[in-house]
Amino acid sequence: MDAPEAGVVLLSVNELEVGQAKVVTTSDGVEVAVVREGEQEVRAFSAICTHQGCTVRAEEEDLHCPCHGSKFALTDGSVISGPAEEPLPEFPVGIQDGNVVTQ
Ligand code: FES
Repeated sequence: MDAPEAGVVLLSVNELEVGQAKVVTTSDGVEVAVVREGEQEVRAFSAICTHQGCTVRAEEEDLHCPCHGSKFALTDGSVISGPAEEPLPEFPVGIQDGNVVTQ
């Protein structure tokens, strides 16, 4: 699994409401689910399902894989329901100048 390089802008933090998630693709093709946990708190996870590699979708309550229905928690990428067994790996991110940036 490829992690995005450090210093990559993923999106403007204003594009996410608190509690919301969005899947973005970096310029080098890494698909990342960005979650806004609070006004100044963001987290990011690989958007590639750990079951067979489909891209998960950001839903209101969770990250949902359309291929076989796995669900992952917005809070920490853990598996809510399978068939996936492994959590989505987390990527370190922070907020810089109003943008969510990889670290
Ligand atoms: S690839 Fe995601 S549930 Fe199978």
